Amino acid sequence: MENVTTLGEFIIERQQDFPGSSGEFSRLLSAIRLASKIVSQKVNKAGLLSYIVGSAGSENIQGEAQQKLDVYANIQFIKALRQRKVVCGIASEENDEHITLNESGSYIVAIDPLDGSSNIDVNVSIGTIFSIYKRVSPVGTPVTDADFLQKGTEQVAAGYVIYGSSTMLVYTTGNGVNGFTYDPGIGVFILSHRNMQFPANGKIYSMNEGNFFRSSKGIQEYIKFAQGIEPNENRPYTGRYIGSLVADFHRNLIKGGVYLYPATDQSPNGKLRLLYECNPLAFIAEQAGGKASDGRQRIMEIEPTDLHQRAPYFTGNTAMVDKIESLISEKG
Ligand code: AHG
Ligand code: MN
Ligand code: MN
Repeated sequence: MENVTTLGEFIIERQQDFPGSSGEFSRLLSAIRLASKIVSQKVNKAGLLSYIVGSAGSENIQGEAQQKLDVYANIQFIKALRQRKVVCGIASEENDEHITLNESGSYIVAIDPLDGSSNIDVNVSIGTIFSIYKRVSPVGTPVTDADFLQKGTEQVAAGYVIYGSSTMLVYTTGNGVNGFTYDPGIGVFILSHRNMQFPANGKIYSMNEGNFFRSSKGIQEYIKFAQGIEPNENRPYTGRYIGSLVADFHRNLIKGGVYLYPATDQSPNGKLRLLYECNPLAFIAEQAGGKASDGRQRIMEIEPTDLHQRAPYFTGNTAMVDKIESLISEKG
């Protein structure tokens, strides 16, 4: 085998990013690595396992039907994070309130354990999204809501796992973005995408266009702009929408493009959740030379007030997000 760097080696190598760190952060990442391997294995076999396919018969705080795999993934990530003792609390899409873990831990995690659940039963890519902060309350006391309600700019790390044609883990600690592909034969994530950056020019747009007439004039104008014929500007763009944020984001990061989940007349704050969907991918987008906005301001500067709050979301190549912002400010 040629020279390869495993995720485990990379984490140790990069521990220098955290001067004075006692290795707590490395233990946290290795918990995420372990849980993603377990979930990946289940995802690969989902079609064969009746206890993993279909609805769990319950709803989460947002009133959305939980799939069995949503529940399974949530349990696996919580279990792995609890065992490492470095995390004092978790905010999860699948739990109404935050979960209290070890008081001695100095990190908190916000997580969407399984993103794209409508795609589980149809064999289409799904993912996990995570965001990591240092707590603001004192170590040795129980975690508080305030520990989770920090702006995205305070993230110390963020990442996602995509369970696709292969499983990949992509993360940043604010020092570039690196991607690791899972080799199930040896059970190891291998560095395959070093220092990921959006290509200079994007030409993909990703939106659920079923919401076209429910969106504002500015968004409708952008979609018409994307479809306009202007070969010198690479238009019309290509429309691609998977319906798993992780998978749409990952494709746009590699090929160049923009993801839109705007406000609609029925959901004035859009659909996506600030803490465990928008902020982590915003951190990655910015680290990869891109941008993330709610149409008016930088996502990572929004002051959170609720664990499960939503925000309109536009992320991808900087110039494409700029265009959306300018049409929103012009036309609403
Ligand atoms: P989740 O499965 O965690 O609830 O997230 C689903 C999200 C996101 O992944 C996706 O981009 C979006 O919902 C799709 O929404 P629409 O079906 O409205 O397009
Ligand atoms: Mn999601
Ligand atoms: Mn989810």
